[in-house]
Amino acid sequence: ASSTEIDISAIQPGQAIKAVFRKQPVFVRNLTPKEIAEANAVDASSLRDPQTLEERTKEGKENWLITMGVCTHLGCVPLGAGEGEVKGEFGGYFCPCHGSSYDTAARIRKGPAPKNLEVPDYTFSSDTVVKIG
Ligand code: FES
Repeated sequence: ASSTEIDISAIQPGQAIKAVFRKQPVFVRNLTPKEIAEANAVDASSLRDPQTLEERTKEGKENWLITMGVCTHLGCVPLGAGEGEVKGEFGGYFCPCHGSSYDTAARIRKGPAPKNLEVPDYTFSSDTVVKIG
């Protein structure tokens, strides 16, 4: 099958997990209210790849940030989904290959990556299961 179902029931606020979708890493993150506020405090039009958190999540479920775990520079797997809380300067993800920092909406904020971490197509099968693809 080309889609992947992920049980998100055990992911605590502030935690992110890494899953696999079409042989690539995908990150599922349960944002805290503070992380949501940090993302919303940024003027999206000032960003390299202008997008709001709202545009990158589903309505009513803004705490669930689901992205590919593939740096948009040269494809390394950023840190921040389970490696001892290495989240980088902007509190989201950090790519150690060439130093790209992503924020709490996984938007590129610093370093060579040109784009935000990609949001794959997904739907909530229930409150605790996400179907990607
Ligand atoms: Fe991530 Fe280069 S591959 S910064």
